[in-house]
Order: sequence, then structure tokens, then C-alpha cells
Amino acid sequence: MELPPHRRENVLPLPVVLISTVSPDGMLNAAPWGNITPILRPLDEIVLASWLKRDTLENIRATGEFVVNIPTAGMSREVMVCARHYPPEVDEFAEAGLTPHPSKTVRPPGIEGCIAWMECTLVEEICRDKYVLVIGKVERLEVDDRFFTVDGEMDPSIAKPLCMLCGKSGMRFTCPGGDGEYRSYAEMFSWEGSA
Ligand SMILES: Cc1cc2nc3c(=O)[nH]c(=O)nc-3n(C[C@H](O)[C@H](O)[C@H](O)COP(=O)(O)O)c2cc1C
Repeated sequence: MELPPHRRENVLPLPVVLISTVSPDGMLNAAPWGNITPILRPLDEIVLASWLKRDTLENIRATGEFVVNIPTAGMSREVMVCARHYPPEVDEFAEAGLTPHPSKTVRPPGIEGCIAWMECTLVEEICRDKYVLVIGKVERLEVDDRFFTVDGEMDPSIAKPLCMLCGKSGMRFTCPGGDGEYRSYAEMFSWEGSA
């Protein structure tokens, strides 16, 4: 079977994050995002793709700051409430029953109950006709110790980070299970054993 090229997000599992921002006059906003990725390991920038008509984009442009919150699989209800198209003057934390989690380096708070919080500043926008790529620098990365080893490695079986598989008319929420394998980065740089 072949799928049309525009359904490429149907074959690529995506993370689901909640981006929290504040408007210049202090209104709290939260919105789910799937088109987001770190830019190469082990640098500290991330990139997200945004349609033009987003309060999140307006707030990032106006304040230069945002928080990327990593929700658990148990937070899909809050995610879908935040996905509604509220006008900018609505407090989306209040609508979704979210409790602010204090940030240290940026003004927008994170969201309590998440697995991790990336406090970010705007580095650059790459503007296209219909969308914008927002490059952000992660200024501070906080994690909930309950879900991580002392080395800062997430245990996905406990944390259950929310992910999604897009379909034709909806999204299927998932979370990574893992296959039990743990492979060293060093393997990539070794010629030993290569045929
Ligand atoms: C799981 C999920 C992922 C989403 N990912 C994106 C995305 O990557 N980019 C985007 O522009 N909108 C995305 N959306 C849509 C926005 O979250 C939605 O339009 C939201 O109302 C925007 O809120 P805002 O106007 O307060 O920024 C996504 C929605 C859901 C439910």
C-alpha cells in the first residue's frame, strides 16, 4: 500500500508536549504540540513548527519565552481541553484545571504533574507562507525525580510520556513501551565488528 505524501505524519510517531506561555499582559496559555524535536544531540536547541494562527506563537513572539512540558499518558484529557480554540483572553490553565509549576529562568510557569519542564527562550523564527519554525534554546531542564534514575535517565515504564500516532480523522495516543535493549552511543563510533 502507498499513502499520499502529505500523510507522512501517519507513519512517524510523534511526542505530545504542552507548551505554556504568558501573554504580555499576563494571561496564561497552554497548548498541545506534536511537531517539536531537539536539534541534534547533545546541543541545547529545539525546533517546533507552528501554524500562523496560534496564541502560543503570538506569546512567544511577544515575550521571547515558553516552557515545553512533557505530559504523562494520563493527561490526554487536559491535552484535548488545551487544544480547543479559546480566544487569547481566556486562561487555559483554569479551563483545563492545570496547576502552575514555578519556572526559574523564564516568566511562563510550567504545568504541575508533568514529567519534565524545558524553560526556553526564542532564538530565531524561520517564516514560511503558512507556518513558522520556532527555534528555542533550553535554558533550564527540570525533571520529576520520581520518573528518572540518579543519572537523569527516564524510566518510560513509570513515566509513560504521552505520544501520538496521527490517523486520517484523528489521533491515537500512545506511550513508548521499550524493547528492553539499551545500546551505547559508543557503538556508533566504532568500526570493530563491522563486516
Ligand atoms: C496532540 C496535538 C498536537 C498538536 N500539534 C500542533 C503543532 O505541532 N503545531 C501547531 O501549530 N498546532 C498543533 N496542535 C493544535 C494546537 O494545539 C491548537 O490549535 C491549540 O488550540 C492552539 O492553542 P493556542 O492558540 O492557544 O496556541 C496540536 C493539537 C493536538 C491535540
